[in-house]
Amino acid sequence: MASITIHEKRFSVYLSDEVLQKRIRELAAAINADYAGKKVYFLAILNGSFMFAADFFKYLTIDSEICFIKLVSYKGLKSSGEVTTAIGLEEDLHGKNVVILEDIIDTGKTLHYFLPQLLHQQPSSLKIVALLHKQEMTKYEVPIDYTGFVIPNKFVVGYGLDYDGLGRNYKDIYQLADEE
Ligand code: IMP
Ligand code: MG
Repeated sequence: MASITIHEKRFSVYLSDEVLQKRIRELAAAINADYAGKKVYFLAILNGSFMFAADFFKYLTIDSEICFIKLVSYKGLKSSGEVTTAIGLEEDLHGKNVVILEDIIDTGKTLHYFLPQLLHQQPSSLKIVALLHKQEMTKYEVPIDYTGFVIPNKFVVGYGLDYDGLGRNYKDIYQLADEE
């Protein structure tokens, strides 16, 4: 489909299934090479990353474990800062090679507040794979090690990404169309 309508907004194809799969294979190949002979513990961030993580995982040939977690942000009671907690993180990450799988990094706020908590567990390494990066929007520092696509500041849906709950089901990624 060249275009779709979600909540009365029109979106047109931006990254096709073929383009996405090719790039995801390249990202997985880079991880396979960089972690050759090692075991990696992947942390996929829900909800948006479920489709990306599933495809990416199929291209891995190294020893790979995966855990799906959900990040919830709220205002801390004592500090004025944001607190981000992870739901579903069961394992102790101490001594593990941890790789985060994120669908999109926009302002960087979510991961910026979450990374210190992971580092606190003293993993032996911590890297980030982001399928999409809205580079011009990033205000909080996040060290992204592997980027699928740097994209402009336009809303995208599909391939796990939603617009107000809808649109996650499409195999391509769509971008908000300009108003006519
Ligand atoms: P950040 O904390 O600003 O980096 O926000 C990251 C989160 O915002 C992502 O995990 C998405 O859930 C959401 N997000 C940001 N931009 C988009 C978009 O264009 N489409 C869908 N979700 C988005
Ligand atoms: Mg997300």
